[in-house]
Amino acid sequence: MTTDTGKTREHNLSAEKPRIDGTLKLTGGADYAADRNLPNQTWGYPVTSTITSGKLVSLELDEALAMPGVLDIFHHDNFDRLSRSPNSFAEENLTSEPRLPFEDNEIHYQGQYIALVVADTLNHARAAARKVRANYERSDDFLTDIRTLDRGEGDLPGEEQSGDASSLGDADSALESASVRLDQRYTIAQENHSVMEMHASVAQWENDMLTIYESSQGVVFQRNALAKIFGIPPEKVTVISHFIGSGFGSKLFMWPHAIMTAVAARRLGRPVKTVLSRQQEYLATGYRPTSLQRVRLGADDSGRLLSIHHDGCNESSPAGKHDDTVSGATPKMYDCGNVAVTNRLVTVNKCPPCPMRAPGESSGNFALETALDELAVQLDMDPLELRKKNFADKDPASGLPWSSNHLRECWDNAASRFGWDKRNATPGAMKDGDEIIGYGMATQSWEAMRQHCSARFGFRADGSLLVACGTQDIGTGTYTIVAQTASKLTGIPIEMIDVRLGDSSLPSGPLSGGSFATSTVLPAVSAAFDEAVSQLKTLATAEGGAFENADTDAIEFQDGRLVHGGQSVDVTQLLKDNQLGLVDAVGSAQPGDEQSQYSFRSFGAVFVEIRWDPGISRLRVARVVSTIDIGRAINPMTARNQVEGGIVMGMGMGLFEQAEFDHSGYPYNNNLADYILPVNADMPEVDVELLDYPDYHHNAFGARGVGEIGLTGVAAAISNAVYNATGKRIRDMPISIEKML
Ligand code: MOS
Repeated sequence: MTTDTGKTREHNLSAEKPRIDGTLKLTGGADYAADRNLPNQTWGYPVTSTITSGKLVSLELDEALAMPGVLDIFHHDNFDRLSRSPNSFAEENLTSEPRLPFEDNEIHYQGQYIALVVADTLNHARAAARKVRANYERSDDFLTDIRTLDRGEGDLPGEEQSGDASSLGDADSALESASVRLDQRYTIAQENHSVMEMHASVAQWENDMLTIYESSQGVVFQRNALAKIFGIPPEKVTVISHFIGSGFGSKLFMWPHAIMTAVAARRLGRPVKTVLSRQQEYLATGYRPTSLQRVRLGADDSGRLLSIHHDGCNESSPAGKHDDTVSGATPKMYDCGNVAVTNRLVTVNKCPPCPMRAPGESSGNFALETALDELAVQLDMDPLELRKKNFADKDPASGLPWSSNHLRECWDNAASRFGWDKRNATPGAMKDGDEIIGYGMATQSWEAMRQHCSARFGFRADGSLLVACGTQDIGTGTYTIVAQTASKLTGIPIEMIDVRLGDSSLPSGPLSGGSFATSTVLPAVSAAFDEAVSQLKTLATAEGGAFENADTDAIEFQDGRLVHGGQSVDVTQLLKDNQLGLVDAVGSAQPGDEQSQYSFRSFGAVFVEIRWDPGISRLRVARVVSTIDIGRAINPMTARNQVEGGIVMGMGMGLFEQAEFDHSGYPYNNNLADYILPVNADMPEVDVELLDYPDYHHNAFGARGVGEIGLTGVAAAISNAVYNATGKRIRDMPISIEKML
């Protein structure tokens, strides 16, 4: 395996490129999971629980079974016995809900699957599903909102998690002796991923081989989990996810609908296709859990941070534990030697929460960055100056140097483009006609990670290239940056490069998550390229070859040719001479020991202008300026687009998004009409600039990845701007209009 940590070779292949799959997507040529139709296919439709907590006593199925086209109904009493996935990140076999479908008769949430109807058409399956009658033992002892448990002072509710509490120095004493102190609580409502493309599974068994078309952020993880569940070798399972209409974390790990669908296909001996409805999406495919947070800060009169306490609490589920560790990144954010963080969980009757874009950190950063703004008000200090004063020039948590950190330039660059110096700190002092203007800012941050990865690189006799990896493109531009990389490495134009992703039978690639796909995949592509070139050199130096018996080290690959001494041979000619259609090789790459030498993190700064029109109670974000340091952007066009998307999502957290439950535990805004998301009409001018400081400690491409950082800080910057406009401190996200009145 190649371990490239910048010492081997440094690449500069930054270039603006529109997505190579853009045309396919816009013309309907991209095959999403639910677009797949197989010969002899049937349709599955889940039946979901209509109670929030209790037991399923019995199902009445006669009427449903007699409906037209119904083939079978699967449920607790007739389902296959399966094994649970061991659920290990290291073994890459996680599932989102560890419980198997229909494993027991316990009902833990509204929308839990209680049966799967399979029929010859979607309409027949759906009509029959409505005829299934369920008898329950209903429990009224349930909880859907942890905010009702908070006493508003002292410790947060919930059970403290061991393992994720961390502390530096002595935060308690430092707080006690600080001349300036703050103790505040913050909450963020549950957010739903609201992906454009519904979760879908199309499963087919051929003999003992399972193929499943799924909208997945991790085809390899899903393959491995299915193999464990069915007790078959991973080679007998193939997961295909060529195109994905976003996932935001909800498609990282398989949900039960995929297992139900695969079992039904095996039992019926026919392909089964299950596509979740939008309502089922909102019931049973995860969410960003509601969080409660308490932040205590201690500072001296000059604004030096003396202590930080950050306690977090998030919802978890009886059907699957999820720790969002909202306070986890806090010890790394500012230069403060006395830090104590904890996280707690409260079990609610909902499906398991799961990661949602910038999981944990976007929630935690909201609380910390709002608290800092409050501290600046207490100190009568500019909030940007307060942050600058506490810049951490190494990672305070580990004591390691940053691999590369240009946060100070992000602050200055964004402040100057925004015009921060024109800010009047007095609430309500800035006006434009009927509108009151507020300026707010926050720091953005996300950890930079990297995983192991393999890829295949092939030269074809027609001059084209094949580059393949068992990762997937969730819409972020992975196809494009892989093609760019192959093009830059070979000098072969991007149009001649055939990139294959989204197939678990390809060499194992990473999840599309955690912002680590770019930093993980490109080094493997480069390693595979090197392997493929050495195959070419072996051909060229073989008996009768162009450079017979030459030393392979003396041969160079340049722009599609092998060069030796003053001579060269075109790779396509070499293949033709050897009567080969393709010369290819697999290469692998993984991180080295750099994690023990450096702390890898990306930082940025976001500035927001809000406008509040009290006459008509309209609050809007008018401008957003963000400057981000992600090392090198391989494709600045798609990278900026990721940050812009993150900002849209941050506006959702700050202004609009909240799942709401009625007294029976029914999530009533479980559709795109009632669940409020930012839409085009809400969008302000968004101005994103990426600094360009390649981080060669992270990988030879200098790229730390960009998927999530854009979201962090946005809600805090909005809330801080609202304070600047109105003097009202809103610590409870989203800032829906009634909170402004
Ligand atoms: Mo992201 S929550 O890693 O899809």
